[in-house]
Amino acid sequence: MGKHEDSFAGHIRPRQIRAGALRLRATFCLGGFSFLAFIVLTITGMLLLFYYQPGDSAFASLSELDSALPYGGLIRSLHFWAGQLMVITVFLHMVRVVWSRAYRPIRELNWITGVVLFGLTVMLDYSGYLLRGGQESGAAATVGQALITSLPGGKALATVFFGQPTPLNGSTLSMFVWHVFILAGAAGFLQMFHFWRVRRGGGVRPL
Ligand code: HEM
Repeated sequence: MGKHEDSFAGHIRPRQIRAGALRLRATFCLGGFSFLAFIVLTITGMLLLFYYQPGDSAFASLSELDSALPYGGLIRSLHFWAGQLMVITVFLHMVRVVWSRAYRPIRELNWITGVVLFGLTVMLDYSGYLLRGGQESGAAATVGQALITSLPGGKALATVFFGQPTPLNGSTLSMFVWHVFILAGAAGFLQMFHFWRVRRGGGVRPL
């Protein structure tokens, strides 16, 4: 057995931390709330997977899930609201990090990891909205496609993200793969890396 500090438990709950790092003002627990939202999203998302049908019947499968399944609507609402909350808490967490200047060396790698996590969080929210497959999703897809296509090399980029360069016509299959496997998987992995880097950077930097 190694020292407590080298073990997993010692990493998550080290014996010594910087003075003041536990004060509410140091973090407002915003990173923690973001992680909590992510856990709720993962659990409710996995439950939704049992019923959701990607592709052309997405909208119909969700309507049925709302009305026919016990607690279906509740699980769907929890997933939706945890998603909105996560966008807000991640953003505020970022503001806190800027406020306490915790982006500076030696924490710059974790800042960059955070920027990627913020991008992933927004893309998860967006792709999740498209997964509804309803009319508003179609409108949101059209706006997103126009935005991406206006970038240099945007047409190819739009094809990669949307699965096709033209409007989606209700199909949600490519969004499903991005949302459930690629974006959520990358966000989960990067969060583990993020937490590891928090400790390697000497823990939270209180102002
Ligand atoms: C999935 C989203 C994220 C989660 C779950 C998360 C979680 C956390 C947690 C739990 C901490 C420990 C301190 C605290 O709670 O404030 C932390 C620290 C930190 N986070 Fe995040 N974070 C996320 C996104 C971001 C973003 C968007 C940024 C900035 C672009 C960022 C930059 C940092 C930095 C630099 C630290 C170290 C802060 C310090 O040492 O004071 N994180 N993060």
